[in-house]
Amino acid sequence: MSRIAYVNGRYVPHAAARVHIEDRGYQFADGVYEVIAVARGRLVDGGPHLERLERSLGELRIAMPTTRRALEAVIAEVIRRNRVIDGSVYLQMTRGVAPRDHAFPARAQTQLVMTAKRAKPHPAAWPEDGVKVVSLPDIRWARCDIKSVSLLPNVLAKQAAREAGAYEAWMVAADGTVTEGSSSNAWIVTRDGELVTRAAGAAILDGITRRAVIALAREEGLRLVERPFTLAEAKTAREAFVTSTSSFVMPVSQIDDAVVANGKAGSLSRRLRQRYLAHMAAEAGRG
Ligand code: PDD
Repeated sequence: MSRIAYVNGRYVPHAAARVHIEDRGYQFADGVYEVIAVARGRLVDGGPHLERLERSLGELRIAMPTTRRALEAVIAEVIRRNRVIDGSVYLQMTRGVAPRDHAFPARAQTQLVMTAKRAKPHPAAWPEDGVKVVSLPDIRWARCDIKSVSLLPNVLAKQAAREAGAYEAWMVAADGTVTEGSSSNAWIVTRDGELVTRAAGAAILDGITRRAVIALAREEGLRLVERPFTLAEAKTAREAFVTSTSSFVMPVSQIDDAVVANGKAGSLSRRLRQRYLAHMAAEAGRG
């Protein structure tokens, strides 16, 4: 079955989908995006994702190209046309097409592109064995809370992870604290059983999965602290894991050369993964 993309009002074959060479997303990375999971054909936490999208646009003074309701209708249509049951949708909005000039164009029309894809099944062993992460310096800008398409440092970090045989790269600030992964949020469980993740702020993307897991942890009555943790603390932690739209809750069993706990997925990480999968199923059953 051929994939269908949405480009500024038209549904087109994926292979034929095009944007203009003077799209400011292409020339300046002047745009934002969202990746939203689809479960049983429905969005997982669609509301929070679209709210975050509107916030990112607002921070950059890019206009919403449509109403929220019209956007939701297009998302549903892209899911339907691509026959996605379990997978994800990708939305990208850029400031517009204009002759190249760094300053905003006087009349910009926000460009909207959307694609959908089916989920690739994760290798079955991952949740049990956990994954490896490598650390490297966080060389990004000071507004990582904006979900900008300007992802070059993240791209370089993920490539470094891949070349090291790792699943993810954890980025470390100048003060030695872990900010987040190249495309995920970072968590640890301390030796005395405290669940720790960095508080939302300009240094990280406030992950929608992160927020859901915080809510689940509170329901479970876990001791949760939102604070920075150092790489050294993570390496001696009882457990570690990452959260994201595509990884859900993914246990980490190795950080650089340090084996976390016994080198297997920790019990709290497993429990939160199960709880998060149940949350996804509940989202799929809504509406
Ligand atoms: N990445 N931090 C960064 C830098 C991210 O790019 C992402 C998401 C997250 C987790 O956010 P969420 O739980 O809302 O997915 C944290 C998406 C999935 C991506 O770039 O593909």
